[in-house]
Amino acid sequence: MKRVLFVFGTRPEAIKIAPLIHKFKNDQAFVTKICVSAQHRQMLDQILSIFKIVPDYDLNAMKPNQTLFDLSSFILSKLNDVLDDFNPDLVFVHGDTTTAMIASMAAFYKQIKIAHVEAGLRTNKLYSPFPEEANRQIIGVLANYHFVPTQNAKENLLKENKNPENIIVVGNTVIDSLLFMKEELEKNSILKEQILKELARYYHFNEERKIILVTGHRRENFGQGFQDLCKALKQLALNNENVDIIYPVHLNPNVHEVVNAMLKDIKNVFLIPPLRYEEFVYLMDKSYFIITDSGGIQEEAPSLSKPILVTRNDTERPEAVQAGSAKLVGTDTQKIVQEAQRLLEDTKEYEKMSKNVNPYGDGKASEKILEYLKQKG
Ligand code: UD1
Ligand code: UDP
Repeated sequence: MKRVLFVFGTRPEAIKIAPLIHKFKNDQAFVTKICVSAQHRQMLDQILSIFKIVPDYDLNAMKPNQTLFDLSSFILSKLNDVLDDFNPDLVFVHGDTTTAMIASMAAFYKQIKIAHVEAGLRTNKLYSPFPEEANRQIIGVLANYHFVPTQNAKENLLKENKNPENIIVVGNTVIDSLLFMKEELEKNSILKEQILKELARYYHFNEERKIILVTGHRRENFGQGFQDLCKALKQLALNNENVDIIYPVHLNPNVHEVVNAMLKDIKNVFLIPPLRYEEFVYLMDKSYFIITDSGGIQEEAPSLSKPILVTRNDTERPEAVQAGSAKLVGTDTQKIVQEAQRLLEDTKEYEKMSKNVNPYGDGKASEKILEYLKQKG
C-alpha cells in the first residue's frame, strides 16, 4: 500500500484539499496521513471542523504577524521529523503558500515524490502575487506530478519544458468543495437555519438592499493598497445608501488594523470576522457582486454567477477575466468606485458579467487525481 502524506496549513488549502483527502482516506490502496503546519490557526480549524478532518501531525506554526523567515524555517525543521516518522512514498501539496513550498522542499530533501495540486498557474512576475508566484514556481521545479486546473495552466508548464506525461488536467478541487457545500445548503434546512442565525449576529438580510461582498489579504496590497481600497469602499457606501457592504476581515493584523481604522464607523459597511465556509458560500450566493483579491474566490464566483472586481494588477487566474465575469481593477480608488458604480447602475454590464461560466472544472477534480494515481500504481 502506498503511503501518502498531505501537508497544508491555511484556510484556502484546507478548503481545496479536503475533498481529495476524503477520497484517499476512503481508498484501501493508500495509507493516508495528514500534517497541518497550522500556518493559519483559527481560520484553518474552522475548515478542519467543517470537513471533519483530524490531522495526524499538527506543527502549530502560527504566531501573530510572524515573518516569512520564521514561518519557513520553523515548518522546514518540523517536517524533517514528520517525514522520518511516517516515511511516505508521496507528499501532496496544494497551490502556492509558504507551507506548500516548504513541504515540497522537505520532501525533495528526502527524495520523496511530490504531487502538486493546482499546479501551473502563473503571472510570470515574481513579485505579484508575493511571495506566491515564486512559491508556485519553486514547487513546479520539484514536483513529480502536476495536477493542473485548466488547459492554460498546462500550457504554462509546457513552456517551462516540464514533461507532458506528468501534467494532468483535472479542474480545480475548489469546485468539488463548492458544489458539495451548495448541495448541503440546498438539502439541509437545519444547516441553513444555523447559518442564518449565525449571520444574524452581524447582518439582517433585506431583499431591497444589494450586497457588495468584500475580502482582501494580499501582501502586495498592504499599506497604501488597502488604504486606497478602503477609501473606495467608503465612497461607495456613502454614494449608495441602498447598498450594504459586507466585509469579513482577514485576521492578518496588516489587514484588519487598517480596515477597522478606516471603515468601522460607516453605517452601511459591516466589518465582520472571517466566516465559516458554509456561511461564506451562502453570503456569496446572496451578494450582488464581489470585490476581492482572493485567489479562491476568483474561482468560486463565476460558478455562482457573481461578477468580481479583482483588486490586483495581475492574476494567475486569467480564465475568469477571459470569460467576462472578472475585471482586474487594482487598488486604484477611482477605478474601483467607477467599476463598482457601473455594476450597480448598468444592468446590461451586470448581466454580461453574471453569466454562469465555469472555467475551473466540473467538481470531479479529486476523483480524477485519485484515479490517475491508482492507475500509476
Ligand atoms: C497566507 C498565504 C497566502 C494565502 C492566504 C490565505 C503565504 C505567504 N501566504 O497569507 O498565500 O492566500 O494565507 O488566506 O503563505 N492570522 C491569525 N489567525 C489565522 C490566520 C492568520 O491570527 O487563523 C494572522 C496572524 O497574525 C498571522 C498573520 O495573520 O501571523 C499572517 O498569516 P500568514 O499565513 O503569514 O499570511 P496570510 O496573509 O494569511
Ligand atoms: N472564505 C471563507 N470565509 C471567509 C472568506 C473566505 O470560508 O470569511 C473562503 C472562500 O470561499 C475561498 C477561500 O476561503 O474558498 C479563500 O481564502 P483566502 O481568500 O483567504 O485565500 P486565497 O484563495 O486568496 O489563497
